[in-house]
Amino acid sequence: MSIFNELAPQHRLMPEAYRELSTEEMERRVRAIKEKHGDELLIPGHHYQRDEVIQFADVTGDSLELARLAAQNTRARHIVFCGVHFMAETCDILTQEEQTVVLPDMRAGCSMADMANMAQTEIAWRLLTEQVGDTILPLTYVNSTAEIKAFVGRHGGATVTSSNARQVIAWALKQKKRILFLPDQHLGRNTAYQLGIPLEQMAVWDPYAKRLETDRDPEDLRILLWKGHCSVHEKFTVAQIEEFRRSDPEVRVIVHPECTYDVVMAADDAGSTKYIIDRINEAPTGSKWAVGTEMNLVRRLAARHPEQQIVSLNPDLCPCLTMNRIDLPHLLWSLESIDRGETTGIIRVSQDIAEDAKAALARMFEHV
Ligand code: 13P
Ligand code: SF4
Repeated sequence: MSIFNELAPQHRLMPEAYRELSTEEMERRVRAIKEKHGDELLIPGHHYQRDEVIQFADVTGDSLELARLAAQNTRARHIVFCGVHFMAETCDILTQEEQTVVLPDMRAGCSMADMANMAQTEIAWRLLTEQVGDTILPLTYVNSTAEIKAFVGRHGGATVTSSNARQVIAWALKQKKRILFLPDQHLGRNTAYQLGIPLEQMAVWDPYAKRLETDRDPEDLRILLWKGHCSVHEKFTVAQIEEFRRSDPEVRVIVHPECTYDVVMAADDAGSTKYIIDRINEAPTGSKWAVGTEMNLVRRLAARHPEQQIVSLNPDLCPCLTMNRIDLPHLLWSLESIDRGETTGIIRVSQDIAEDAKAALARMFEHV
């Protein structure tokens, strides 16, 4: 289900009064609530979150790390997830019944996750299996709705993250002749290519035209890529890489695999959010980087490493707009609603969907 369908009355919008508070006042109140609730309250924060929010995160990580931490934590009664909707859903699926997962702003969706819905997926599956029979294993990037994860789980498939896509796709191709990879065509293409699968054996499924964008015989295809993308990572281009190289040949370009195939091929290095952070943390003084990923993270890396030169590959890029919906006023509002016993923004995945989605997540954890 798209998050916009979930904007039910219980998901109220933040009262405007929160916007009028000073930063100092908001920070003081957040600290007070964290202190009062101790380890009964957990705030996980994705690396793409704003500094004003991430400073209060008890744990930070990429989507794989946050999913793992959620699965391990049985202590926290309230989990205030600072990230986007699909991450909070995953957290709810992996945590215990008595734990409540909250998203501080229900409008913090993910445009990529919303590019694949259930009706489209059922149609794609029917049409593709009519063409190639029972030869497809579905995989979905965790950046997808719980319903899509459940669909994948029901059909024997698994979720993947950008940190483990390689291992999971390699496993999947031993189970079935081909995979259907939802919803990010770029992560699917880049990873399959890294595994040695030629582009000729890949084709894009267009959920609107309801067909594969290829003239090839579907029998010859191994990777069926859903026509989805990340609106942030698609904004990096080969021209930007060339421009950096012209102005300073010492700059190393490192990008996320949600970038297009051409950009990943032209870059010096590519890898998940965690991979990018690790490479920069390990780099020697004086290293120069142009980084192709979300802006909040690039700015934070630059601040953390003044001994290096770290800039965005696209300096005009905005941060991920939906990630940025979680700001300090929303975090405070969310925490105070919990404190008053009137929790807003609860993310609850229905039992039947959660069970099938959990199967897909469990298969991912088995193979990484
Ligand atoms: P990772 O955290 O898996 O690198 O994903 C990046 C992303 O786009 C999260 O929305
Ligand atoms: Fe979605 Fe891209 Fe934003 Fe990640 S960065 S939440 S994939 S839109």
